[in-house]
Amino acid sequence: MVKNQWNAALYEGKHAFVWQYGTDVLELLAPQPGEHILDLGCGTGQLTDAIAQSGAQVVGMDAAASMIEKASQNYPALQFAIADARHFEIDHPLDAVFSNATLHWILEPDAVIQSVYRSLKPGGRFVAEMGGKGNVDSVVQALYAALKALGYDNPAVRNPWYFPSVGEYTTRLEQGGFEVVYAVLFDRPVTLDETEGVANWLQMFASPLLAGLSAEQQHGVIRSVEDQLRPTRYQNNAWSIDYRRLRFVAIKRSIG
Ligand code: BEZ
Repeated sequence: MVKNQWNAALYEGKHAFVWQYGTDVLELLAPQPGEHILDLGCGTGQLTDAIAQSGAQVVGMDAAASMIEKASQNYPALQFAIADARHFEIDHPLDAVFSNATLHWILEPDAVIQSVYRSLKPGGRFVAEMGGKGNVDSVVQALYAALKALGYDNPAVRNPWYFPSVGEYTTRLEQGGFEVVYAVLFDRPVTLDETEGVANWLQMFASPLLAGLSAEQQHGVIRSVEDQLRPTRYQNNAWSIDYRRLRFVAIKRSIG
């Protein structure tokens, strides 16, 4: 899995939209009192807490120790664990696995789907939202152009993100033993309402693409991305980033 340096303070301070938008996906999950639910990629725990408020028994998992530390501080009554989405184990079969804005960080999607499948009861549901095909494409293309200008001829090899189409991901789910009962890809532009919005976003989320560059080169790449995006994506002191979401509900079939 790609290692990102997760800064929990920058995440909570400037990127709260990540879990604020996730509340819509909770409606699709519709957690019920007494259900056992896993929040896969829980970040700093806000949606884990929202699931717990429904009366479900919830565990939050994340690969980043910094996120789990902050989640445990935020919600000391809840259970959190550091775990890799490709290989996690669960003691008690789950009614549902929920995931918001995490699956696109894992370049081995079938391993995640298999782990989720193993963790669920027959009939259990996998409800998630992730970046979908074309997500943040303006930023990706601007990053590639800036890296190429520094002499990195194949910047795509640094790309840590997996943004599948509906067809690709639902096929993987079906091959993994799920029945997909809902799937949609839609545009959801995100507003970063500060002059430094893109710079903060890149520092928070794009560190694998900037790895190995000197501080001066990183600064240059960030300025170049801003310069490329400004004509079309900056207005009234706010940036508009071209997020596209893939949302789905998949049910574990009784017989794989
Ligand atoms: C997303 O949630 O779509 C996303 C977040 C950070 C980097 C790339 C995509």
